[in-house]
Amino acid sequence: MTKSSNTVWHHATVTRADRERLHQHKSAILWFTGLSGSGKSTLAHAVEDYLHKASCTTFVLDGDNVRHGLCSDLGFSDNDRVENIRRIGELAKLMVEAGIITLTAFISPFRSDRNAARNLVPHGDFLEIYCQCPIETCEQRDVKGLYKKARAGHIPHFTGIGSPYEAPEHPELIIDTHEQSLAESVDKVINLLVERGMLASQPK
Ligand code: ADX
Repeated sequence: MTKSSNTVWHHATVTRADRERLHQHKSAILWFTGLSGSGKSTLAHAVEDYLHKASCTTFVLDGDNVRHGLCSDLGFSDNDRVENIRRIGELAKLMVEAGIITLTAFISPFRSDRNAARNLVPHGDFLEIYCQCPIETCEQRDVKGLYKKARAGHIPHFTGIGSPYEAPEHPELIIDTHEQSLAESVDKVINLLVERGMLASQPK
């Protein structure tokens, strides 16, 4: 039994389909996953920028707006990461109900957690986008200086060093972020949305 077992789900009279009609596009979760420094956030924000200019209703969930608030009680142990991704999955599910194209940018290193998030929404509404980038490249970039600290033993359980990253087995899209320009990567994501019928046509 969950802690909130004496609650009753209130069915909204305004439905997801109503909201999608209003927004003139389908809602979905674009789940960006990859190592720290692999370009998830940069790509998610660039895709959002593109979609926003095309009049789509969008929102990016990433570490900055989630780990400072909703998940500020969580660290980087395996259990805390599981809980982090569980909350983000549930939040993204609500945002999909709100008719929003929701972009998430978290390492989300564990396959089972990503699959659990996938299973929260109807089939086809969760698009896993793997930002594939060799750890050596992430480490060379080391934008936040965290790899250096982790190698020096100052950050335990750092993904790729003291903690595993489980690459997706069947992502909807793989982007080689170290080989492709940001514009090319954005195009690939937009093409995927068009292919899946989520946007009426490629926005210009
Ligand atoms: S996740 O594993 O729970 O999905 P999340 O994406 O929220 O991670 O946060 C990752 C960011 O937190 C990294 O980009 C990095 O800036 C920072 N960070 C701090 N400690 C760690 C750690 N031990 N492992 C990975 N990232 C860390």
